[in-house]
Amino acid sequence: MQLLDNYSLEKLNSFKIDVKARKFVTIKSNEEIIRLQEKGMFGKDRHLILGGGSNLLFTSDYDGTVVHMDTRGMEVTHSDDDYVYLRVMAGEEWDDVVGYCVERGWGGLENLSLIPGRAGSSPIQNIGAYGAELSDHFHSLEVLDKNTGKLREMSHEECSFSYRESVFKHKEKDRYIILSVTFRLDKVPRVCTDYLALSDELEDMCVSSPSISDVRKAVISIRRRKLPDPDFLGNAGSFFKNPVISRKRFIKLREEFPGIKFFEEAGGVKIAAGWLIEKAGWKGRRLGKAGVHRHQALVLVNHGGATGSEVLRLAEDIRASILDVFGIELQTEVNII
Ligand code: FAD
Ligand code: EPU
Repeated sequence: MQLLDNYSLEKLNSFKIDVKARKFVTIKSNEEIIRLQEKGMFGKDRHLILGGGSNLLFTSDYDGTVVHMDTRGMEVTHSDDDYVYLRVMAGEEWDDVVGYCVERGWGGLENLSLIPGRAGSSPIQNIGAYGAELSDHFHSLEVLDKNTGKLREMSHEECSFSYRESVFKHKEKDRYIILSVTFRLDKVPRVCTDYLALSDELEDMCVSSPSISDVRKAVISIRRRKLPDPDFLGNAGSFFKNPVISRKRFIKLREEFPGIKFFEEAGGVKIAAGWLIEKAGWKGRRLGKAGVHRHQALVLVNHGGATGSEVLRLAEDIRASILDVFGIELQTEVNII
Protein backbone atom coordinates (compact mmCIF):
# COMPACT_ATOMS: atom_id res chain seq x y z
CA MET A 1 0.00 0.00 0.00
CA GLN A 2 1.67 3.15 -1.24
CA LEU A 3 0.58 6.74 -0.73
CA LEU A 4 1.21 8.61 -4.01
CA ASP A 5 1.41 12.40 -4.46
CA ASN A 6 -0.27 14.55 -7.13
CA TYR A 7 -1.94 11.59 -8.77
CA SER A 8 -3.90 12.09 -12.00
CA LEU A 9 -7.57 11.08 -11.73
CA GLU A 10 -8.34 11.56 -15.42
CA LYS A 11 -8.56 7.81 -16.11
CA LEU A 12 -10.39 7.14 -12.84
CA ASN A 13 -13.52 9.20 -13.48
CA SER A 14 -15.92 8.41 -16.29
CA PHE A 15 -16.44 12.13 -17.08
CA LYS A 16 -12.70 12.11 -17.89
CA ILE A 17 -12.14 15.40 -16.06
CA ASP A 18 -8.43 16.15 -15.91
CA VAL A 19 -7.79 16.70 -12.18
CA LYS A 20 -5.25 15.48 -9.63
CA ALA A 21 -5.50 14.16 -6.10
CA ARG A 22 -3.04 15.61 -3.57
CA LYS A 23 -2.61 12.04 -2.25
CA PHE A 24 -3.82 8.73 -3.66
CA VAL A 25 -3.83 5.18 -2.37
CA THR A 26 -5.12 1.91 -3.84
CA ILE A 27 -6.66 -0.60 -1.43
CA LYS A 28 -6.22 -4.29 -2.28
CA SER A 29 -7.46 -5.94 0.93
CA ASN A 30 -9.70 -5.25 3.91
CA GLU A 31 -6.61 -5.41 6.14
CA GLU A 32 -5.14 -2.43 4.24
CA ILE A 33 -8.21 -0.25 4.76
CA ILE A 34 -8.36 -1.22 8.44
CA ARG A 35 -4.70 -0.25 8.79
CA LEU A 36 -5.43 3.17 7.26
CA GLN A 37 -8.25 3.65 9.74
CA GLU A 38 -5.96 2.68 12.66
CA LYS A 39 -3.40 5.25 11.49
CA GLY A 40 -6.10 7.95 11.81
CA MET A 41 -6.47 8.56 8.07
CA PHE A 42 -10.22 9.14 8.28
CA GLY A 43 -10.04 11.48 11.22
CA LYS A 44 -7.76 14.28 10.12
CA ASP A 45 -7.32 14.50 6.35
CA ARG A 46 -10.02 15.27 3.77
CA HIS A 47 -10.63 12.02 1.91
CA LEU A 48 -12.78 10.46 -0.79
CA ILE A 49 -13.62 6.78 -1.22
CA LEU A 50 -13.45 6.02 -4.93
CA GLY A 51 -14.93 3.05 -6.79
CA GLY A 52 -15.10 3.21 -10.58
CA GLY A 53 -15.60 7.01 -10.62
CA SER A 54 -18.72 6.67 -12.79
CA ASN A 55 -21.06 8.69 -10.62
CA LEU A 56 -18.80 11.64 -9.79
CA LEU A 57 -18.03 15.07 -11.16
CA PHE A 58 -14.74 16.59 -10.01
CA THR A 59 -14.97 20.39 -10.08
CA SER A 60 -11.31 20.97 -9.11
CA ASP A 61 -8.15 19.15 -8.04
CA TYR A 62 -8.84 17.06 -4.94
CA ASP A 63 -7.07 18.62 -1.96
CA GLY A 64 -6.99 15.47 0.17
CA THR A 65 -6.54 11.70 -0.14
CA VAL A 66 -8.40 9.60 -2.68
CA VAL A 67 -8.80 6.01 -1.42
CA HIS A 68 -9.42 3.74 -4.40
CA MET A 69 -11.26 0.53 -3.44
CA ASP A 70 -9.80 -2.32 -5.50
CA THR A 71 -10.47 -5.38 -3.35
CA ARG A 72 -11.47 -8.44 -5.37
CA GLY A 73 -13.25 -11.74 -4.80
CA MET A 74 -16.66 -13.41 -4.87
CA GLU A 75 -17.78 -16.36 -2.77
CA VAL A 76 -21.01 -18.26 -2.16
CA THR A 77 -21.54 -17.98 1.59
CA HIS A 78 -24.49 -20.39 1.69
CA SER A 79 -27.50 -21.57 -0.27
CA ASP A 80 -30.91 -23.07 0.47
CA ASP A 81 -33.70 -24.57 -1.63
CA ASP A 82 -34.53 -21.25 -3.28
CA TYR A 83 -31.53 -18.95 -3.10
CA VAL A 84 -27.78 -18.65 -3.51
CA TYR A 85 -26.09 -16.03 -1.31
CA LEU A 86 -23.11 -14.45 -3.07
CA ARG A 87 -20.68 -12.22 -1.20
CA VAL A 88 -18.80 -9.80 -3.43
CA MET A 89 -15.82 -7.65 -2.46
CA ALA A 90 -16.22 -3.88 -2.97
CA GLY A 91 -13.68 -3.51 -5.78
CA GLU A 92 -15.20 -6.06 -8.16
CA GLU A 93 -16.46 -4.57 -11.44
CA TRP A 94 -20.24 -4.50 -11.26
CA ASP A 95 -20.81 -5.99 -14.69
CA ASP A 96 -18.41 -8.88 -13.96
CA VAL A 97 -20.65 -9.74 -11.01
CA VAL A 98 -23.75 -9.73 -13.23
CA GLY A 99 -21.98 -11.85 -15.87
CA TYR A 100 -20.80 -14.33 -13.21
CA CYS A 101 -24.36 -14.80 -11.93
CA VAL A 102 -25.97 -15.11 -15.36
CA GLU A 103 -23.38 -17.71 -16.46
CA ARG A 104 -24.33 -19.86 -13.45
CA GLY A 105 -28.09 -19.44 -13.98
CA TRP A 106 -28.59 -17.40 -10.78
CA GLY A 107 -31.32 -14.88 -11.40
CA GLY A 108 -31.89 -11.34 -10.21
CA LEU A 109 -29.15 -9.01 -11.45
CA GLU A 110 -29.51 -9.47 -15.24
CA ASN A 111 -31.57 -6.27 -15.81
CA LEU A 112 -28.66 -4.34 -14.25
CA SER A 113 -26.18 -5.50 -16.90
CA LEU A 114 -23.47 -3.14 -18.13
CA ILE A 115 -23.93 -0.47 -15.44
CA PRO A 116 -20.42 0.91 -14.94
CA GLY A 117 -18.73 1.01 -11.54
CA ARG A 118 -17.80 -1.29 -8.70
CA ALA A 119 -19.88 -3.57 -6.49
CA GLY A 120 -19.09 -1.59 -3.32
CA SER A 121 -20.77 1.55 -4.68
CA SER A 122 -23.84 -0.24 -6.02
CA PRO A 123 -25.93 0.05 -2.82
CA ILE A 124 -25.15 3.75 -2.33
CA GLN A 125 -27.64 4.96 -4.90
CA ASN A 126 -29.43 1.58 -5.11
CA ILE A 127 -28.54 1.25 -8.79
CA GLY A 128 -31.46 0.57 -11.06
CA ALA A 129 -32.29 -0.02 -14.71
CA TYR A 130 -34.83 -1.64 -17.02
CA GLY A 131 -37.41 -2.43 -14.36
CA ALA A 132 -35.08 -3.67 -11.58
CA GLU A 133 -33.20 -2.22 -8.64
CA LEU A 134 -30.28 -3.56 -6.64
CA SER A 135 -32.51 -3.67 -3.54
CA ASP A 136 -34.65 -6.41 -5.18
CA HIS A 137 -31.84 -8.96 -4.69
CA PHE A 138 -29.74 -7.37 -1.98
CA HIS A 139 -29.22 -9.36 1.22
CA SER A 140 -26.72 -7.45 3.39
CA LEU A 141 -23.40 -5.65 3.38
CA GLU A 142 -20.31 -5.29 5.51
CA VAL A 143 -18.97 -1.88 6.48
CA LEU A 144 -16.05 -0.34 8.28
CA ASP A 145 -17.19 2.49 10.55
CA LYS A 146 -14.69 5.28 9.91
CA ASN A 147 -15.34 6.85 13.33
CA THR A 148 -14.93 3.78 15.53
CA GLY A 149 -12.90 1.39 13.35
CA LYS A 150 -15.50 -1.32 13.98
CA LEU A 151 -16.68 -3.71 11.29
CA ARG A 152 -20.36 -4.45 11.08
CA GLU A 153 -23.01 -6.11 8.95
CA MET A 154 -26.01 -4.07 7.76
CA SER A 155 -29.32 -5.62 6.75
CA HIS A 156 -31.61 -4.69 3.89
CA GLU A 157 -33.87 -2.76 6.25
CA GLU A 158 -31.01 -0.73 7.74
CA CYS A 159 -29.96 0.47 4.29
CA SER A 160 -33.35 2.24 3.70
CA PHE A 161 -33.33 1.79 -0.07
CA SER A 162 -35.60 3.72 -2.39
CA TYR A 163 -35.30 5.10 -5.96
CA ARG A 164 -31.61 6.12 -6.32
CA GLU A 165 -31.40 6.49 -2.53
CA SER A 166 -30.09 4.76 0.56
CA VAL A 167 -29.05 5.59 4.12
CA PHE A 168 -25.49 6.14 2.78
CA LYS A 169 -26.59 9.31 0.96
CA HIS A 170 -28.33 10.87 3.93
CA LYS A 171 -28.39 9.82 7.59
CA GLU A 172 -25.11 7.91 7.42
CA LYS A 173 -23.43 9.92 4.67
CA ASP A 174 -19.63 9.55 4.77
CA ARG A 175 -19.67 7.42 7.94
CA TYR A 176 -19.04 3.98 6.45
CA ILE A 177 -16.79 2.31 3.93
CA ILE A 178 -18.58 -0.57 2.21
CA LEU A 179 -16.25 -3.59 2.20
CA SER A 180 -18.48 -6.25 0.63
CA VAL A 181 -22.06 -6.78 -0.52
CA THR A 182 -24.05 -10.02 -0.31
CA PHE A 183 -26.74 -10.73 -2.90
CA ARG A 184 -29.64 -13.17 -2.66
CA LEU A 185 -30.04 -14.77 -6.06
CA ASP A 186 -32.86 -16.94 -7.38
CA LYS A 187 -32.00 -20.57 -8.12
CA VAL A 188 -35.06 -20.67 -10.35
CA PRO A 189 -34.91 -17.31 -12.11
CA ARG A 190 -38.03 -15.19 -12.66
CA VAL A 191 -37.38 -12.83 -15.53
CA CYS A 192 -38.71 -9.29 -15.34
CA THR A 193 -39.43 -7.77 -18.76
CA ASP A 194 -42.03 -5.14 -17.89
CA TYR A 195 -39.89 -2.17 -18.95
CA LEU A 196 -41.19 -1.18 -22.40
CA ALA A 197 -37.79 -0.68 -24.07
CA LEU A 198 -36.73 -4.14 -22.81
CA SER A 199 -39.85 -5.99 -23.98
CA ASP A 200 -39.57 -4.24 -27.37
CA GLU A 201 -35.92 -5.27 -27.65
CA LEU A 202 -36.74 -8.92 -26.84
CA GLU A 203 -39.48 -8.83 -29.45
CA ASP A 204 -36.99 -7.50 -32.01
CA MET A 205 -34.70 -10.39 -31.03
CA CYS A 206 -37.66 -12.76 -31.71
CA VAL A 207 -37.45 -14.15 -28.15
CA SER A 208 -40.84 -15.04 -26.70
CA SER A 209 -39.80 -16.86 -23.47
CA PRO A 210 -36.61 -15.09 -22.45
CA SER A 211 -33.96 -16.61 -20.21
CA ILE A 212 -31.84 -14.42 -17.91
CA SER A 213 -29.13 -14.64 -20.54
CA ASP A 214 -31.53 -13.23 -23.18
CA VAL A 215 -32.46 -10.40 -20.81
CA ARG A 216 -28.76 -9.61 -20.29
CA LYS A 217 -28.14 -9.59 -24.04
CA ALA A 218 -31.17 -7.33 -24.66
CA VAL A 219 -30.19 -4.86 -21.92
CA ILE A 220 -26.60 -4.69 -23.20
CA SER A 221 -27.85 -4.08 -26.71
CA ILE A 222 -30.17 -1.19 -25.64
CA ARG A 223 -27.48 0.38 -23.47
CA ARG A 224 -24.82 0.22 -26.22
CA ARG A 225 -27.23 1.96 -28.60
CA LYS A 226 -28.56 4.63 -26.26
CA LEU A 227 -25.83 5.53 -23.82
CA PRO A 228 -22.40 6.98 -24.63
CA ASP A 229 -19.40 4.80 -23.80
CA PRO A 230 -17.26 6.78 -21.30
CA ASP A 231 -14.10 5.47 -23.01
CA PHE A 232 -15.05 7.57 -26.05
CA LEU A 233 -17.26 10.32 -24.62
CA GLY A 234 -16.91 11.27 -20.96
CA ASN A 235 -20.15 11.09 -18.95
CA ALA A 236 -21.61 9.77 -15.69
CA GLY A 237 -24.90 8.34 -16.96
CA SER A 238 -28.05 10.25 -15.99
CA PHE A 239 -26.97 13.56 -14.51
CA PHE A 240 -30.33 14.15 -12.80
CA LYS A 241 -32.86 11.85 -11.14
CA ASN A 242 -36.29 11.41 -12.70
CA PRO A 243 -38.57 13.62 -10.57
CA VAL A 244 -41.49 11.98 -8.78
CA ILE A 245 -44.55 14.23 -8.46
CA SER A 246 -48.06 13.81 -7.06
CA ARG A 247 -50.80 12.41 -9.30
CA LYS A 248 -52.77 15.66 -8.94
CA ARG A 249 -49.85 17.74 -10.17
CA PHE A 250 -49.18 15.26 -12.97
CA ILE A 251 -52.74 15.52 -14.31
CA LYS A 252 -52.38 19.30 -14.61
CA LEU A 253 -48.95 19.01 -16.24
CA ARG A 254 -50.24 16.47 -18.75
CA GLU A 255 -53.06 18.80 -19.80
CA GLU A 256 -50.40 21.32 -20.80
CA PHE A 257 -47.92 18.75 -22.22
CA PRO A 258 -49.95 15.77 -23.53
CA GLY A 259 -46.86 14.00 -24.93
CA ILE A 260 -45.07 13.86 -21.56
CA LYS A 261 -43.29 10.55 -20.83
CA PHE A 262 -43.81 9.08 -17.39
CA PHE A 263 -43.83 5.92 -15.26
CA GLU A 264 -46.53 4.99 -12.76
CA GLU A 265 -45.15 4.72 -9.20
CA ALA A 266 -46.71 3.62 -5.93
CA GLY A 267 -46.27 7.06 -4.34
CA GLY A 268 -46.92 9.29 -7.38
CA VAL A 269 -45.80 9.64 -10.98
CA LYS A 270 -42.17 9.51 -12.11
CA ILE A 271 -41.53 11.94 -14.96
CA ALA A 272 -38.86 11.15 -17.58
CA ALA A 273 -36.41 14.02 -17.00
CA GLY A 274 -34.81 13.25 -20.39
CA TRP A 275 -38.11 14.13 -22.05
CA LEU A 276 -38.36 17.41 -20.09
CA ILE A 277 -34.81 18.38 -21.03
CA GLU A 278 -35.36 17.48 -24.69
CA LYS A 279 -38.69 19.34 -24.78
CA ALA A 280 -37.01 22.43 -23.29
CA GLY A 281 -34.65 22.38 -26.28
CA TRP A 282 -31.41 21.17 -24.68
CA LYS A 283 -30.81 17.87 -26.48
CA GLY A 284 -27.50 17.94 -28.38
CA ARG A 285 -26.63 21.49 -27.21
CA ARG A 286 -23.14 22.50 -26.10
CA LEU A 287 -21.73 24.95 -23.61
CA GLY A 288 -18.02 25.20 -24.29
CA LYS A 289 -16.63 21.66 -24.14
CA ALA A 290 -19.56 20.30 -22.15
CA GLY A 291 -22.79 19.22 -23.78
CA VAL A 292 -26.09 17.35 -23.67
CA HIS A 293 -25.93 13.95 -25.35
CA ARG A 294 -27.66 13.90 -28.72
CA HIS A 295 -29.41 10.55 -28.12
CA GLN A 296 -30.20 10.87 -24.38
CA ALA A 297 -30.86 14.33 -22.98
CA LEU A 298 -30.49 13.16 -19.36
CA VAL A 299 -26.80 12.45 -19.98
CA LEU A 300 -24.33 15.35 -19.91
CA VAL A 301 -21.06 14.75 -21.73
CA ASN A 302 -17.49 15.98 -21.91
CA HIS A 303 -16.71 16.57 -25.59
CA GLY A 304 -13.00 16.64 -24.70
CA GLY A 305 -11.11 18.86 -22.28
CA ALA A 306 -14.18 20.13 -20.39
CA THR A 307 -13.67 21.19 -16.78
CA GLY A 308 -16.01 20.01 -14.04
CA SER A 309 -17.12 23.61 -13.52
CA GLU A 310 -18.12 23.83 -17.19
CA VAL A 311 -20.28 20.69 -16.85
CA LEU A 312 -21.76 22.04 -13.61
CA ARG A 313 -22.61 25.39 -15.25
CA LEU A 314 -24.45 23.56 -18.02
CA ALA A 315 -26.31 21.45 -15.43
CA GLU A 316 -27.33 24.60 -13.54
CA ASP A 317 -28.62 26.25 -16.72
CA ILE A 318 -30.68 23.13 -17.49
CA ARG A 319 -32.10 23.03 -13.96
CA ALA A 320 -33.14 26.69 -14.17
CA SER A 321 -34.73 26.12 -17.57
CA ILE A 322 -36.74 23.05 -16.43
CA LEU A 323 -37.98 24.98 -13.40
CA ASP A 324 -38.98 27.84 -15.66
CA VAL A 325 -40.77 25.76 -18.33
CA PHE A 326 -42.35 22.98 -16.22
CA GLY A 327 -42.17 24.25 -12.62
CA ILE A 328 -40.18 21.11 -11.71
CA GLU A 329 -36.96 21.18 -9.70
CA LEU A 330 -34.50 18.55 -10.92
CA GLN A 331 -32.27 16.83 -8.38
CA THR A 332 -28.74 15.86 -9.26
CA GLU A 333 -27.94 12.15 -9.29
CA VAL A 334 -24.19 12.59 -9.85
CA ASN A 335 -22.00 13.34 -6.79
CA ILE A 336 -20.39 16.76 -7.16
CA ILE A 337 -16.90 16.81 -5.64
P1 FAD B 1 -18.03 6.10 -7.73
O1 FAD B 1 -18.43 7.09 -8.78
O2 FAD B 1 -16.59 5.79 -7.60
O3 FAD B 1 -18.58 6.62 -6.31
C1 FAD B 1 -19.93 7.01 -6.15
C2 FAD B 1 -20.14 7.42 -4.67
O4 FAD B 1 -19.98 6.29 -3.83
C3 FAD B 1 -19.12 8.44 -4.16
O5 FAD B 1 -19.77 9.27 -3.23
C4 FAD B 1 -18.07 7.58 -3.45
O6 FAD B 1 -17.37 8.28 -2.45
C5 FAD B 1 -18.93 6.50 -2.87
N1 FAD B 1 -18.26 5.19 -2.73
C6 FAD B 1 -17.70 4.46 -3.73
N2 FAD B 1 -17.29 3.27 -3.26
C7 FAD B 1 -17.58 3.25 -1.93
C8 FAD B 1 -17.37 2.29 -0.89
N3 FAD B 1 -16.81 1.09 -1.12
N4 FAD B 1 -17.79 2.61 0.36
C9 FAD B 1 -18.36 3.81 0.62
N5 FAD B 1 -18.57 4.75 -0.33
C10 FAD B 1 -18.18 4.48 -1.59
N6 FAD B 1 -26.57 4.12 -12.42
C11 FAD B 1 -27.76 3.48 -12.27
O7 FAD B 1 -28.29 3.36 -11.16
N7 FAD B 1 -28.40 2.94 -13.35
C12 FAD B 1 -27.90 3.01 -14.61
O8 FAD B 1 -28.50 2.52 -15.54
C13 FAD B 1 -26.65 3.68 -14.79
N8 FAD B 1 -26.11 3.79 -16.03
C14 FAD B 1 -24.93 4.44 -16.19
C15 FAD B 1 -24.39 4.53 -17.49
C16 FAD B 1 -23.18 5.17 -17.70
C17 FAD B 1 -22.61 5.24 -19.10
C18 FAD B 1 -22.48 5.73 -16.59
C19 FAD B 1 -21.13 6.39 -16.80
C20 FAD B 1 -23.00 5.66 -15.31
C21 FAD B 1 -24.24 5.02 -15.09
N9 FAD B 1 -24.83 4.92 -13.81
C22 FAD B 1 -26.00 4.24 -13.64
C23 FAD B 1 -24.16 5.54 -12.63
C24 FAD B 1 -23.06 4.65 -11.99
O9 FAD B 1 -22.67 3.64 -12.86
C25 FAD B 1 -23.51 4.03 -10.67
O10 FAD B 1 -23.92 5.03 -9.76
C26 FAD B 1 -22.43 3.18 -10.00
O11 FAD B 1 -22.95 2.47 -8.91
C27 FAD B 1 -21.26 4.04 -9.52
O12 FAD B 1 -20.24 3.15 -9.12
P2 FAD B 1 -18.74 3.61 -9.00
O13 FAD B 1 -17.97 2.49 -8.43
O14 FAD B 1 -18.26 4.17 -10.28
O15 FAD B 1 -18.91 4.78 -7.90
N1 EPU C 1 -36.68 10.33 -23.38
C1 EPU C 1 -36.87 11.40 -24.22
N2 EPU C 1 -35.79 12.12 -24.59
C2 EPU C 1 -34.54 11.83 -24.16
C3 EPU C 1 -34.35 10.74 -23.27
C4 EPU C 1 -35.45 9.99 -22.89
O1 EPU C 1 -38.01 11.70 -24.65
O2 EPU C 1 -33.60 12.52 -24.56
C5 EPU C 1 -37.86 9.49 -23.03
C6 EPU C 1 -37.76 8.11 -23.70
O3 EPU C 1 -38.28 8.13 -25.00
C7 EPU C 1 -38.55 7.23 -22.77
C8 EPU C 1 -38.35 7.89 -21.40
O4 EPU C 1 -37.87 9.21 -21.65
O5 EPU C 1 -39.92 7.29 -23.10
C9 EPU C 1 -37.36 7.12 -20.52
O6 EPU C 1 -36.11 7.04 -21.20
P1 EPU C 1 -35.07 5.85 -20.90
O7 EPU C 1 -35.74 4.54 -21.05
O8 EPU C 1 -33.87 6.12 -21.74
O9 EPU C 1 -34.73 6.01 -19.38
P2 EPU C 1 -34.45 7.27 -18.44
O10 EPU C 1 -35.64 7.49 -17.58
O11 EPU C 1 -33.96 8.43 -19.23
C10 EPU C 1 -33.56 5.84 -16.49
C11 EPU C 1 -32.39 5.80 -15.55
C12 EPU C 1 -31.19 5.19 -16.24
C13 EPU C 1 -31.54 3.77 -16.65
C14 EPU C 1 -32.74 3.82 -17.59
C15 EPU C 1 -33.24 2.44 -17.94
C16 EPU C 1 -32.68 7.59 -13.97
C17 EPU C 1 -32.25 8.94 -13.52
N3 EPU C 1 -32.09 7.13 -15.07
O12 EPU C 1 -33.25 6.72 -17.55
O13 EPU C 1 -30.13 5.13 -15.29
O14 EPU C 1 -30.46 3.15 -17.29
O15 EPU C 1 -33.84 4.51 -16.95
O16 EPU C 1 -33.90 1.90 -16.86
O17 EPU C 1 -33.52 6.98 -13.33
C18 EPU C 1 -28.31 6.41 -14.42
O18 EPU C 1 -28.91 6.40 -13.33
O19 EPU C 1 -27.18 6.91 -14.55
C19 EPU C 1 -28.94 5.79 -15.59
C20 EPU C 1 -28.39 5.78 -16.79
